[in-house]
Amino acid sequence: MLNGRTAVGVGTPSAERTEANPAAIIHVERLTKDYVLAAGIVHALRAVTLDVNPGEFVAIMGASGSGKSTFMNLIGCLDRPTSGTYLLDGIDVANLARDELALVRNRKVGFVFQGFNLLPRMSALGNVMLPMIYAGLSGEAMRNRGLAALDAVGLGDRADHRPAQMSGGQQQRAAIARALVNGPSIILADEPTGNLDSRTSVEVMAILQQLNAHGITIIIVTHESDIAAYCKRFVRFKDGRVIQDQTNLSPRSAAAALAELPAEEPEVMAS
Ligand SMILES: Nc1ncnc2c1ncn2[C@@H]1O[C@H](COP(=O)(O)OP(=O)(O)OP(=O)(O)O)[C@@H](O)[C@H]1O
Ligand SMILES: [Mg+2]
Repeated sequence: MLNGRTAVGVGTPSAERTEANPAAIIHVERLTKDYVLAAGIVHALRAVTLDVNPGEFVAIMGASGSGKSTFMNLIGCLDRPTSGTYLLDGIDVANLARDELALVRNRKVGFVFQGFNLLPRMSALGNVMLPMIYAGLSGEAMRNRGLAALDAVGLGDRADHRPAQMSGGQQQRAAIARALVNGPSIILADEPTGNLDSRTSVEVMAILQQLNAHGITIIIVTHESDIAAYCKRFVRFKDGRVIQDQTNLSPRSAAAALAELPAEEPEVMAS
């Protein structure tokens, strides 16, 4: 703990906490998640208290089963906590009806997954346009926004390619474009480089750093300290609890790291 993060507001009531840090884009207090199974209860998260401010770039780390994905699913409003408080950009999401929750999630959060999760029969552009279906835009407006998102991740020339016609890094970039297309304030990425080789991983981190430089708050899960080194803050989970929360005073620049890596082999692509 280099900046007093772990001491901030611990044990104080929710209203005071929010007042103490009204800027937090994510305010989580004593959040728990229990999974009830025939064999017994799994305490996946045990009273996690954490604030994330706009513009942060957080690496969530910890052993397998420590609760990282459970935490990401809760803060991404994909699942509901068993108990505790969660304010997303000041909105108490626990009190929202299911469709209101979906709306908040769609507007505020973009998701990136380890396995890309692109639809195989659709082009990159088709995949990127999917989250806009509920935005009430015209077909042309959706197309233009989709192409702009693909441009933002350097994939403007791959709009018509299906996932199988792209490299792993390109597929992950298309997934990032899809996460971006509704203009979210937060990107949540659960092991976004888990299926990528080391150079491609750094390329993906370079894009995430660029988005972060434009003000998007980013939270990633990673098992690799090499990848975490590009983030501004490390949060480590163990057995459903946060055991370390530390500012990275000198995050690595992925763009600089790429410049030092040997030149890329030309990519051979199926047509
Ligand atoms: N749907 C579920 N039902 C029951 N138990 C679950 C469920 N999802 C997760 N768990 C349990 O909750 C705990 C936390 O799981 P979680 O997926 O959050 O771990 P993780 O830190 O993301 O691990 P990994 O690094 O392997 O992805 C684990 O003990 C897991 O077995
Ligand atoms: Mg996980």
